[in-house]
Amino acid sequence: MSLFKKKSKIKFKKFESSIEASEYVAIEVLNEVKKGKKINLGLATGSTPILLYNALVSDYEETRTPWKNVSTYNLDEYLNLPEGHPQTYKEFMKKHLFSHIDINLDNTHFPKVNENYDSLIQLNGGIDIQILGIGTNGHIGFNEPGSLLKSITRVVDLTQETIDVNAKQFFAGNKDLVPKQAISMGLESILNAKKIYLLAFGYSKNEAMEKLYHAEKFDVNFPASALLQHNDVTVVFDNGTELDI
Ligand code: GLP
Repeated sequence: MSLFKKKSKIKFKKFESSIEASEYVAIEVLNEVKKGKKINLGLATGSTPILLYNALVSDYEETRTPWKNVSTYNLDEYLNLPEGHPQTYKEFMKKHLFSHIDINLDNTHFPKVNENYDSLIQLNGGIDIQILGIGTNGHIGFNEPGSLLKSITRVVDLTQETIDVNAKQFFAGNKDLVPKQAISMGLESILNAKKIYLLAFGYSKNEAMEKLYHAEKFDVNFPASALLQHNDVTVVFDNGTELDI
């Protein structure tokens, strides 16, 4: 039993499994999509949100709820991978979500160099629901330790830890194939979303989750602590994490 008491207003919800946690977030997202009004979703990549995207696809297959009024804004994209490369986040999103629903691909957005992504998002009404994963070092998007609270979309250098983890998960263990840079929404860009869900599954996220749970103020070396500044953040996690709430 921890002696610390959580001081932040972030809501933590622990589920029996990552499937249940993902279904919970899917229902929250679908409640908005099913209203049929224009909605902007902020989306994440990585292994964590795949179960959420599976749940959204299952719902589409069952109910044919239209996604025509949904626009999406992905958090980040690797630099220096050719268009169409299977490890680009654009291809990831097509594979796990976009090619299975009736979303208009013109309404799906990824940050690009020399484009003001933050202005584009704000001009289109801002992000209604932002989905996040978390890196083992506490990164959100590709905001690595050292990212400032005021950071906006920009080119970032990936840490060796992130390159190693991503090599293992997505590049067959070959670190040389992982791009060293990416373009990522900043911490301020993320905090502009109206509502945020952060998903964290498995033991590898244990330390990051403990830190986030006990965080009391922004720590530049632990980017996810920026979420303390937001009023509507829900963290969903599974039994793979030791954190007791
Ligand atoms: C990646 C992504 C993040 C993601 C994180 C965790 O590098 N840029 O958006 O949340 O790392 O990845 P995973 O879900 O595979 O653990």
